[in-house]
Amino acid sequence: MTWTEAVVVSHSPATPDIAVIDLAPATGDEFPAYTAGAHIDVLITPNLVRQYSLCGPPEQGRYRLAVLNEPASRGGSRAMHALKVGDHLRISAPRNHFPLVTARRHLLFAGGIGITPLLAMARQLEREGGDYALHYCARSRARAAFVKELAGNPRVALHFDDGDPRQQLDLARDLGDPQPDTAVYVCGPDGFMDHVLGKAEALGWPPQSLHKERFGTAPEPTASGDSFTVRLASTGAEYLVPDDRSVLDVLLENGVDAPYSCRQGICGTCVVRVLAGHPDHRDEVLTNEEHAEGLFTTCSSRSLSPTLKLDVIPRRDRP
Ligand code: FES
Repeated sequence: MTWTEAVVVSHSPATPDIAVIDLAPATGDEFPAYTAGAHIDVLITPNLVRQYSLCGPPEQGRYRLAVLNEPASRGGSRAMHALKVGDHLRISAPRNHFPLVTARRHLLFAGGIGITPLLAMARQLEREGGDYALHYCARSRARAAFVKELAGNPRVALHFDDGDPRQQLDLARDLGDPQPDTAVYVCGPDGFMDHVLGKAEALGWPPQSLHKERFGTAPEPTASGDSFTVRLASTGAEYLVPDDRSVLDVLLENGVDAPYSCRQGICGTCVVRVLAGHPDHRDEVLTNEEHAEGLFTTCSSRSLSPTLKLDVIPRRDRP
């Protein structure tokens, strides 16, 4: 991972528990451009990396993040909230696993802080004259970021848990039956994602129409009896992956130069290729098609077969 030095140029509360943070290059160089749906990695501590969606458009040359202060977090969101204007931090170049796809119409469903990538998408579609609708669900108006700029936009529907029942999300109405050439995007906490995706499936939406980004937590270690062996195609070396360790843990412990970032199955940095065996995919970043091509996240996924043969591209050899 190549890190870039950034400086905090603005840090303000959007709600009591969401901070909007603008970053600029610390060196005078320009940040790389990004597309709607992209995120950056932020190096919180040498061992803690967190992903945040870019929710611009920021002023020229800036990245804008919105960070929820989560009491259950492992320190990432607290550290981000404690930043002050002028503080420096290290960030990655933007990556986009959740891009807008080519479609006649786009339906965006945001739950809570999941608004961040969808806000960037709505802005891009607005700029380009795209046909879209954004449904933004939050516990209350006071807990929802960016409401001022979204309210009044006829393409945006705000749904608050504590509001009039008539304004609450009704997927039979707000998503409806599958429509041709229509892409559905969903981002938010697990419960929200499961609700929207489950209902979409029940309504008959085909999986290829559904695009998701989950703000996940690290997968739990697997049940006991779930150990397996990984064999590296490059060296033939074999390593046992016990039930309480990830493939990535085992590779790193054995000195393999395996790439990684989030360790949560959501960023895609650790992806390798399965050459033999039956993987048990537990990531939130790869599509079904990518799984079918043999792509596999070492930080979160496991094996259904006793052995998995993997093609790991060392960090130093990655493009
Ligand atoms: S390190 Fe991010 S998906 Fe594995």
